[in-house]
Amino acid sequence: MLPAAKCFCLLCSVLINLEFSEATETKSSLFKLWYGYILDIPTGSTTEVGGMTVSMCVFHCLGDSHCRSASLTLSTQRCVISSVDSFDSSVAIIPDSDSVMIQLWPEGGLYDSWTLVFRAQAGNFLSVYDAWTNDDLKHGFPWKSDVPIGCTQFKTDLPCEQTFRSAILSEWEDRNISEVKVVLYKDGVQQHYIIFNGSSTNMTGWFSPHGILSTTWNNPQDADFFSLEGTEIYLGYIRRFQMYGPHDGCPTDYGWMVVVDAPMDDCSQYLSVTPTWPRFMYSVDAGPVTWSVAGSAVGYADILAVFVKFS
Ligand SMILES: *[C@@H]1O[C@H](CO)[C@@H](O)[C@H](O)[C@H]1NC(C)=O
Ligand SMILES: *[C@@H]1O[C@H](CO)[C@@H](O)[C@H](O)[C@H]1NC(C)=O
Ligand SMILES: *[C@@H]1O[C@H](CO)[C@@H](O)[C@H](O)[C@H]1NC(C)=O
Repeated sequence: MLPAAKCFCLLCSVLINLEFSEATETKSSLFKLWYGYILDIPTGSTTEVGGMTVSMCVFHCLGDSHCRSASLTLSTQRCVISSVDSFDSSVAIIPDSDSVMIQLWPEGGLYDSWTLVFRAQAGNFLSVYDAWTNDDLKHGFPWKSDVPIGCTQFKTDLPCEQTFRSAILSEWEDRNISEVKVVLYKDGVQQHYIIFNGSSTNMTGWFSPHGILSTTWNNPQDADFFSLEGTEIYLGYIRRFQMYGPHDGCPTDYGWMVVVDAPMDDCSQYLSVTPTWPRFMYSVDAGPVTWSVAGSAVGYADILAVFVKFS
């Protein structure tokens, strides 16, 4: 190659890198790239273009108002853009060393203008409450490289070995949080949610029956025990994020949701029947469920996610 041409190419790649770092750092992250993954997207929501580099594929997606995510296969230069987000339950993210996946990240927040601040996973032996209150656990916001892709998803097929906890949690009272949404997911699909008023609240006080703005359950404000801190009945028996009760003896206890945040619960026959913890138990129907009925009326979510909106 002629020295001049080589020099031009180097400059080219430097320019592209500059554009990337500007887009990601100064414009509140318009998109995020993950190397080593390809999206498996339902047909009908994709278009494909050949002869693309990573930057061309990114700009192609940015320039198309329907594009939400994309993936580029490096060896074939094939860029597939999609109108569905990478975290949609219909999409699979597959490890592929020859590909890069791209997710658009609008300034208003990624998940329908909600910002994810917390993601806990059932059965990983990590206390949800310890993570929630641990100020040393601060993942970057917007997501930086310290957040594995699995922690941005509501399925569990890609690894997320920590609990995701945004640095926003540690700044709760200074962040002008207007709404807080708790969502339970199973197989990547939302099962139930509850939205609270976040104005003038602290990191734990927002989870209150007085702050409910909307929910998929009927009347959870009627629960006798309604708090994030929950009850430590005695050491080792710990319920958090609870909308529970009355407690009249285990067989009659009912509730809307509870995080069983320890290996065993006081009502072990009903609330610690799985070999792993934490357990995100909920009433599948709109009303409360009596835990002892078990079966399909009692749900076990895979993921508990908390999102916020800012005023
Ligand atoms: C929160 O709102 C106050 C009053 O409107 C404002 O002064 C402050 O800058 C806001 N804080 C953030 C982090 O946006
Ligand atoms: C949310 O809480 C704030 C502070 O208590 C209150 O002023 C506001 O009216 C509440 N918003 C709604 C929609 O209830
Ligand atoms: C958080 O808010 C709740 C409810 O308003 C209050 O009871 C609690 O003391 C507050 N916690 C802290 C640490 O300020």
